[in-house]
Amino acid sequence: MTNPARILVVFGTRPEAIKLFPVINALKADPRFECVVCVSAQHREMLDQVLDIAGIVPDHDLDVMKPDQSLDELTARLLTGLGKVMDEVQPDRVIVQGDTATAMAGALAAYYRKVPVDHVEAGLRSGNIYHPWPEEINRKIIGSMASLHFAPTATSANALKAENVDPARIHVTGNTVIDALHWVSAKIAAQPSLAGGLADLEARFAQRRIIGVTSHRRENFGDGMDNIASAIRQIAARDDVAVIFPVHLNPNVRKVMHEALGGLDNVAMIEPLDYPHFARLIGIAEIMLTDSGGVQEEAPALGKPVLVMRETTERPEGVEAGTAKLVGTQAARIVTEISTLLDDKAAYEQMARAHNPFGDGTSARRIAELLANEIGR
Ligand code: UD1
Ligand code: UDP
Repeated sequence: MTNPARILVVFGTRPEAIKLFPVINALKADPRFECVVCVSAQHREMLDQVLDIAGIVPDHDLDVMKPDQSLDELTARLLTGLGKVMDEVQPDRVIVQGDTATAMAGALAAYYRKVPVDHVEAGLRSGNIYHPWPEEINRKIIGSMASLHFAPTATSANALKAENVDPARIHVTGNTVIDALHWVSAKIAAQPSLAGGLADLEARFAQRRIIGVTSHRRENFGDGMDNIASAIRQIAARDDVAVIFPVHLNPNVRKVMHEALGGLDNVAMIEPLDYPHFARLIGIAEIMLTDSGGVQEEAPALGKPVLVMRETTERPEGVEAGTAKLVGTQAARIVTEISTLLDDKAAYEQMARAHNPFGDGTSARRIAELLANEIGR
């Protein structure tokens, strides 16, 4: 029998971990592969939350995170660190996911060694290199050197074809976030206490309508964050509403939000939630308000209206399905859109339908099969 192909899976942040643990599990369960896991730890605590719940123990951990890290210093640390790991591991192929600095540096380090790199969640494009920033360029760089492009939807596959990527290298697999969501839902169903940590807040806000909030985009730092905080403050002036806001650990987010919203009784600014608790939050929220990428996929899958605090999105599928709406970062618009959903039942019902434009929860298995096919096993 031929030796298993050695696949190095590289990631560093919370969303990459959520979207790659199903792939890692699929590869580890398959004797055709030897799966080696390298985390850059571009995120530390927020990455570890996912590793813990998913039971992933990395083989390599670069521990690169520094407080308030700049893009250039972070990228430099990533490139040299990941290169060394690749020299040691000697992988047959490298897998990266999405559009973070870790994914971009991982792809580049693999390319420098002429190791084929396969891209999970390929082909997302907003068409604007500053929205989201720097992710639009990161994923274009990865796309320019990837061997296999695992596009979540037909839209993302078409974006790659429009960039003259060989169609034979593009595969529509669905998004592995749906695999992760199915996995965590089953886990919570089997053991509800895994998502029981919000019980106190749920009791405290039992008579109120919950709005779940997340925000972290670099392009929103400054005015954008101030506007978002102002919008949340205005929404919280309603006595029928409560906001639950797990605040990202980026100091540029925390400082603004704590200064603007600290002390409001019906705004619970809490620490980042682990994945089961975040899934629970989407479940109990009437509306999600976010600038996140992943939440734009999860909320439609769970039939929760999601207002996206961005001017553009690389995930038009949720908007086309009617469950997501782009509302920008002007406070007045955000407040108007939330108020409409709270006060106009028909408008709410229109958005609150479950859609699954992002896949059926079998993406990781498809990716493993496509990889096996590629390596002739
Ligand atoms: C990163 C990604 C972004 C992704 C986001 C998901 C890049 C350039 N950005 O942005 O694409 O959408 O993650 O959340 O790759 N911090 C902690 N502990 C943590 C995580 C972050 O303290 O567990 C703080 C640190 O001070 C760190 C800062 O947050 O320096 C920024 O982290 P970084 O990964 O550079 O940027 P994000 O805004 O998290
Ligand atoms: N998430 C989480 N806990 C939180 C907030 C978000 O587990 O407190 C999950 C969420 O379910 C989604 C992912 O983190 O899968 C999104 O990460 P983030 O918004 O940080 O990054 P993005 O998707 O914008 O790159």
